[in-house]
Amino acid sequence: MAGLVFAWIKEQGGLAAMAEVNQRTAEKLYAAGYNTLESIAVASPMELVEVAGLGETQALKIINAAREALEMGWMTAAELLEKRKEVVRITTMSNNLDSLLGGGVETQAITEFYGKFGSGKTQICHQLAVTVQLPFEKGGLDGAALYIDTEGTFRPERIRAMAEGVGLDPDEVLNRIYVARAYNSDHQMLLAEKAKEIVEEKNIKLVVVDSLTSHFRAEYVGRGKLAERQQKLNRHIHTLQRLADAYNLAVVVTNQVMAKPDILFGDPTEPVGGHVLAHAATYRVYLRKGKGDKRIARLVDSPHLPEGEVVFTIKPEGIRDA
Ligand code: GTP
Ligand code: MG
Repeated sequence: MAGLVFAWIKEQGGLAAMAEVNQRTAEKLYAAGYNTLESIAVASPMELVEVAGLGETQALKIINAAREALEMGWMTAAELLEKRKEVVRITTMSNNLDSLLGGGVETQAITEFYGKFGSGKTQICHQLAVTVQLPFEKGGLDGAALYIDTEGTFRPERIRAMAEGVGLDPDEVLNRIYVARAYNSDHQMLLAEKAKEIVEEKNIKLVVVDSLTSHFRAEYVGRGKLAERQQKLNRHIHTLQRLADAYNLAVVVTNQVMAKPDILFGDPTEPVGGHVLAHAATYRVYLRKGKGDKRIARLVDSPHLPEGEVVFTIKPEGIRDA
């Protein structure tokens, strides 16, 4: 298997790293879970030293070569501006929520919805998987959705109702949502890494991960596992960010906040993932319950939008304004 990966890395990269990555190193990397160029490119040297048992200089060389191969280099501000011009938005079907987000859920970005159970995270994901399919003039991207379901809460029936709610053919809508159930965190990471295989072919414009953190939370229990959990989450998030950037698509992730602390340190209302997620997610929206079907959304530490709170509702036909 490692031989295959070695061949693959070599082929993909055509890179200077090959002087550094011999068969044995490839095996070590593979055994430690680094089986794509991306995963190596976003790793820190110390991580490779500790997890894959490489020397520090060698680790640094491999990382740099992987980054070079992926062209994760400099971009002029002018180029960046050009790229930003391609950003488009998906409507949530709530004007309030859209305006909180600066016009809807953005491409080339990760938007995180976090909150307690029943706060509406999964409902918003379902809604976006429908509205991304709307034509541009109606707030969609005329694209398909990829839905990584980690909790088994994806409901085709709900999609059907929401499709009818926006005047789309429910069967067509269901056929443009590609759902995968992730059974553990490794599987979840693999699904995200493999997503690029179908993104272009199916014109995927939205990638949902609902929930981003539940498997990680369940599998990496206790303080001793925290560093490893963060490392893996970090890698996973980078995979998602790369998808968003490379294909001009929107990534939406959810993150549950426990009502009761499941850890003995830190702020229990802090979302799982801590600071890694905080810096990666371009938009973070905190959701909480209001009266009845009302929900309150608050934008938290956005780089260029004002913080604020809005109210929306969860209706039988989907997310709407109150
Ligand atoms: P967890 O995944 O448990 O953390 O919660 P969540 O934030 O994903 O909550 P979710 O989006 O599942 O929201 C659940 C709420 O949405 C419920 O309390 C209902 O009020 C509402 N809801 C769920 N399904 C339907 C539906 O089919 N019709 C309507 N009208 N409301 C629904
Ligand atoms: Mg949910």
